[in-house]
Amino acid sequence: MSSVDESRLHAFVGQAVTDMGAAISGLMLHLGDRLGLYRALADAGPITPGELAGRTGTAERYVREWLANQAAGGYVVYHPAEGTFELPAEQAMVVADETSPVFLGGAFEAIASCYADHDLLAAAFRSGEGIGWHQHDGRLFSGVVRLFRPGYAAHLVESWLPALDGVVAKLRAGASVADVGCGQGASTVIMAQAFERSTFAGFDLHEPSIEQARRSAQEAGVDHRARFEVAAAKEVPGAGYDLVCLFDALHDMGDPVGAARRIHRALAPDGTLMLVEPNADDGLENNLNPVGRTYYGLSTAICTPGSLAQEVGLGLGAQAGPAALTAVLTEAGFSSVRRATETPFNIVLEARP
Ligand SMILES: C[S@@+](CC[C@H](N)C(=O)[O-])C[C@H]1O[C@@H](n2cnc3c(N)ncnc32)[C@H](O)[C@@H]1O
Repeated sequence: MSSVDESRLHAFVGQAVTDMGAAISGLMLHLGDRLGLYRALADAGPITPGELAGRTGTAERYVREWLANQAAGGYVVYHPAEGTFELPAEQAMVVADETSPVFLGGAFEAIASCYADHDLLAAAFRSGEGIGWHQHDGRLFSGVVRLFRPGYAAHLVESWLPALDGVVAKLRAGASVADVGCGQGASTVIMAQAFERSTFAGFDLHEPSIEQARRSAQEAGVDHRARFEVAAAKEVPGAGYDLVCLFDALHDMGDPVGAARRIHRALAPDGTLMLVEPNADDGLENNLNPVGRTYYGLSTAICTPGSLAQEVGLGLGAQAGPAALTAVLTEAGFSSVRRATETPFNIVLEARP
């Protein structure tokens, strides 16, 4: 056995202990989100466990223990003299306010689904087979839309669409748009609300997500201009689209080249493909940071098995990087691909037929 460097050992045990606390606190975060504990804390100021339990219809003994975990993790502040706990405004933006651009409750809901799918994943690792989107624990679908919607609400209309050449002018005048792999349609509905003269079609393989997208469009009052249909990306109906969007979906597809080829044919000659993907560098060595760590984990549990479950099974992975994504689009026939803009979490590529 090679000799052990004591200081490196201590440092790594410290890191693993921090992760141990994070792993169990992820479950606590999901519970706080699901039970409305954070939302109640956000409005409360300093509050006792009994008061918080009373406001949320939960049992004081559980809430007291949960609050202790939250205080140890720095999620709430503990005031020992009064025996109260407080959620600072900055933390409330991340865990309590669903409309805030930095809300992360959806991430922890999606991650909870991965823990629930542990057996499925272990079997897939052994067999090499895929796991279809529909096979996952249901919290994946609600978690993903809650994870992504705040980013779309903050960036899509304000900065992503304006970064594309001439697209906003077309949307204002009245354009035809397809949102492929739309999931529960958060992006579709946001665009439909912003551009009243345009029509939107959302497509996804997953029927329950399409049903939820229809309900969301109805609630937002845009269902006459935002329609949703179950369809595989390679068989998207329609032609002459001015804009086709793919939001965090291309890398989930088994045959992204086939999907992009179909989109290429479905676009108007001067149409635009907007490809939104996780922000990653082409080199793995440059993605070794907290965002890369999270995406590689989600990719192992969700995206890569999803792609392997479909025909071709390319398995691009969520951190494919711009070079691999550009190669997919070029192989599908797109003549130009450029990086239009980015946020810390996403890159936005513009491709023209
Ligand atoms: C990570 S989710 C993103 C959903 C949505 N675009 C959003 O941003 O909230 C990926 C979506 O791609 C869909 N998908 C995967 N493969 C597909 C395919 N071949 N054709 C159509 N949709 C597909 C999944 O059903 C899932 O809803």
